[in-house]
Amino acid sequence: MPRLLIKNAKALLGTHPPEVACVSGTAMAMLPAIEEGWLHAENGRITAFGTMSAWPGVQDWNDLTVIDASGRYVLPGWCDPHTHTVFAATREEEWVMRLKGATYQEIAAAGGGILNSARKLRAMSEDDLFSGAKARLEEMMRLGTVAVEIKSGYGLSLESELKMLRVIRRLKEALPLQVKATLLAAHALPEEFANDRAGYLSMICNELIPQVAGEELAQFVDCFCETNYFTVAEMEQILEAGTKHGLRGKVHVNQFNSIGGIAAAVKHNALSVDHLEVMTDADFSALAAPRSPLATIPTLLPACSHFLGIPYAPARKLIENGNTVALATDFNPGSSPSGNMNTVVSLACTQMKLLPEEAINAATINAAAAMGLEQDLGSITVGKRASFIITREIPSPAALPYHFGSDLIDTVIIDGAIVRAGEAAG
Ligand code: NIG
Ligand code: FE
Repeated sequence: MPRLLIKNAKALLGTHPPEVACVSGTAMAMLPAIEEGWLHAENGRITAFGTMSAWPGVQDWNDLTVIDASGRYVLPGWCDPHTHTVFAATREEEWVMRLKGATYQEIAAAGGGILNSARKLRAMSEDDLFSGAKARLEEMMRLGTVAVEIKSGYGLSLESELKMLRVIRRLKEALPLQVKATLLAAHALPEEFANDRAGYLSMICNELIPQVAGEELAQFVDCFCETNYFTVAEMEQILEAGTKHGLRGKVHVNQFNSIGGIAAAVKHNALSVDHLEVMTDADFSALAAPRSPLATIPTLLPACSHFLGIPYAPARKLIENGNTVALATDFNPGSSPSGNMNTVVSLACTQMKLLPEEAINAATINAAAAMGLEQDLGSITVGKRASFIITREIPSPAALPYHFGSDLIDTVIIDGAIVRAGEAAG
């Protein structure tokens, strides 16, 4: 039975009590810590932790991996609750067009963007899609990500959306990190349905959703609710069909325009509303209390704002609004070609003015909740998965987002097993 002992940690961070599933509003600034800590894990789960002054010592050295984390912080691994990690090709050429002045929407209107990615994905084999995405996820694990949500949405046909979801299932089986899948067939209207929106919607609701739910190929359903993509009424149709088949919503709303998607998503009990770069008073009201803190979690994507040069979501106002703010990479070839949660945490601080403690909570406990993993990940709590980041020797947790662009991770552990061995593990 594999066991793990971490001792002498400068601090264990994110030691939230078991009854805390997520943190909202002013509570987001509180990142509980145990200074000079030790932690024990067995069979991939946390079994005990505490301070070195009360360390019970080791009775049985068999199968015990010991890590000396002197001078280092141990924190829950990053959870990334919004990505499009399965794609056929990058889109540097569109990025260069944007550098020359074209907008994301202009490129999309000319047949680029999501439709460009769909043409390439349809032509690529399942094996090639799998190996490309596997390499991306391996890099993400080295950067501290221990759970990821991955969307379909570049297939845009029954057959190719199913192909993407099968690739996601293979990734989940092949890699140690937790993987959740989301059906995003309503990402863009495919060319063959250009004159038949209702036909595409009906294919999603009456064929894809029942089949995907029946084969358990996805846990969530998504829709790009945006001017020139899908309307609020169309998103509602999809959320209703999802609910009927046990797929909760996690939706793209308010990226470029506020068209009422947030209130509709809240009404349909979506698990998360993602993007939120453009917000009106009515949108804040729709998200305001009293609501369960686990209902409809605003999930912010600062790397997308950075890469597209669009406004950052008003994270501080959402926190003042009492919300449970989560962070994600939005890893995709068009608007955020990076799966690095460290960059996201840093941008959340420098650009959205989150405090380091708020950003770490948003990328761990709240991010886990935004993908339905709050029982399993996101905090150092007995019974949760033993999935951690051990930092290099740094003076304070704030050093992580402060040194933007530096890799301050020493060791990454997933389910009690070392996936990136640094000096502490040596
Ligand atoms: O989250 N906005 C819609 N979907 C992605 C971008 C997809 C793409 O450009 O390929 C996003 O930004
Ligand atoms: Fe996205």
